[in-house]
Amino acid sequence: MADIQENEAVTELGPDNVLFVKTDVASWEQQRALFTRADEWAGSQGLAFLAANAGLSDPPGSLDGLVGKAKADEVVTPPTVDPIQVNLLGAIYSLQLFAHFVRKRGRAGKAVLTSSGAGIYPMPSHPAYAASKHAIVGYTRSIAPSLKPDSIAVNAILPGFTPSNMTAPLLGVIPDQYVTSLDTMVAAYDVFLDDDSQMTGQVLEVSASKKWHFRDHPTYPDEEIRWLNEESAGFFAKVFGLA
Ligand SMILES: NC(=O)c1ccc[n+]([C@@H]2O[C@H](COP(=O)([O-])OP(=O)(O)OC[C@H]3O[C@@H](n4cnc5c(N)ncnc54)[C@H](O)[C@@H]3O)[C@@H](O)[C@H]2O)c1
Repeated sequence: MADIQENEAVTELGPDNVLFVKTDVASWEQQRALFTRADEWAGSQGLAFLAANAGLSDPPGSLDGLVGKAKADEVVTPPTVDPIQVNLLGAIYSLQLFAHFVRKRGRAGKAVLTSSGAGIYPMPSHPAYAASKHAIVGYTRSIAPSLKPDSIAVNAILPGFTPSNMTAPLLGVIPDQYVTSLDTMVAAYDVFLDDDSQMTGQVLEVSASKKWHFRDHPTYPDEEIRWLNEESAGFFAKVFGLA
């Protein structure tokens, strides 16, 4: 388990059951050190599962410069893009390191990257967050075929509104019927953990009503767009040298 701050779950689970490594997932060096230690800790079995779940949302005021609210006498500062660095870059770093250590051991692995409803719908209050979560969906669908030959599955999960530190200010404000329980979220992870069919590149949206929904990419509006996306892969492979 890794987090930028200490996590009380570590004490509950006990030191024999969990290795905690304080890590800023936006740092490649820190993640490389984390995965190296985790691989050693796992022993000959190696790493089998990655949940790339660390995340944060747009800090208050981060849009001020963009939407013209910066004070007139202030030099406009660049927007804060922490959600891109942590939610997106952090997950990309984690997946590459996970794939490296799974391959090194010659075993199979499963990765689940955390997106959000903001990964497929607009979220005007948190645009950088929405951008990072949309990117996780596109990355999952796009990278999955390249890792399949190594028996590494990559899927994305889109949690419903779930109680957590991030959502604490909204608890009691959002009506209960729209709140997804932790049990439902854990059960949604089991959809991937229990899968024997090598499911990969899938996007699973979780709803408060104890349901999850596999979400396909948008339907193609015409035949040319379908062809470009589904049948042009051979041309891309030829030009860019991809498998
Ligand atoms: N709770 C929800 O309703 C909800 C809905 C959709 C998606 N999500 C996603 O679920 C994931 C978990 O969020 P949560 O709701 O449990 O919130 P949370 O704030 O309780 O957990 C997020 C964790 O990420 C850690 N983190 C933040 N920046 C980090 C960094 N640079 N390096 C390492 N760790 C870092 C935080 O310390 C925190 O422990 C996030 O990716 C979030 O975007 C949550």
